[in-house]
Amino acid sequence: MFVVVTVDGPAGAGKTTIARKLAKQLGFCMLDSGALYRTVALALLRAGIIPNDEIIPDDLLKSINIDIEPAVGSMQISLDGEDVSSEIRSEYVGVAASVFSAKAEVRRKLLGIQRSVALQCDLVAEGRDMGEVVFPFAQMKFFLTASAEERAKRRYEELLQKGAQPSYSEVFLEMRARDHRDETRALAPMVPAKDATIVDTTNLTPDQILGTMLKLIKSRLDLLKQETAAKKLDRPSKFFL
Ligand code: DC
Repeated sequence: MFVVVTVDGPAGAGKTTIARKLAKQLGFCMLDSGALYRTVALALLRAGIIPNDEIIPDDLLKSINIDIEPAVGSMQISLDGEDVSSEIRSEYVGVAASVFSAKAEVRRKLLGIQRSVALQCDLVAEGRDMGEVVFPFAQMKFFLTASAEERAKRRYEELLQKGAQPSYSEVFLEMRARDHRDETRALAPMVPAKDATIVDTTNLTPDQILGTMLKLIKSRLDLLKQETAAKKLDRPSKFFL
């Protein structure tokens, strides 16, 4: 059985960066589930569906052909064979993904794709509902948070670095709107799994976050190994039956 570590949390909490680094350090594959929602959103936008349209035609959803190739610390994603990894990073696609992801048919479409990755390799899975819905039996679960101000600041600086000229207050308000949508949707809302370890990243550097998480994962995996070994010893050998 493969090991699954889940990393959930709101936009700007540092999930993607941390999950990628964790996966690299552990030698695990990486599942960026947000990229899947963004890719569906891109396909729907291209097909002329407006994010608030109530009904997404079944045939259209079925025809969206997403392929992911997980690798150590990374994930390749394609839509009908086209590499869309840059295009899905736009603000517009992110907002559309947040709206479309509230729909049951979209979540249903992506559930199997996400679970199939855990049949191929050990995995760090990053998103909103990884610990609660997609991988409830994950061996280790984290929920990363940071204050809304800090998350907006990180996003604002990222946009500046990309050469955009954002307004901090707009970035802040958009982030709060996205949090609200992700937290209050009826299906798979963004909540920490009951057995998740919550890490507040507001005042931590990426190295500090990574160090804390790696230590916890290693001690949890050691404990699981010991438990498995103890269970094997408990089982009577066939010679004594
Ligand atoms: O993490 P991200 O910004 O790439 O995600 C984009 C949107 O996709 C997010 O606002 C909500 C949705 N999403 C989701 O509903 N469930 C996930 N597991 C991951 C993302």
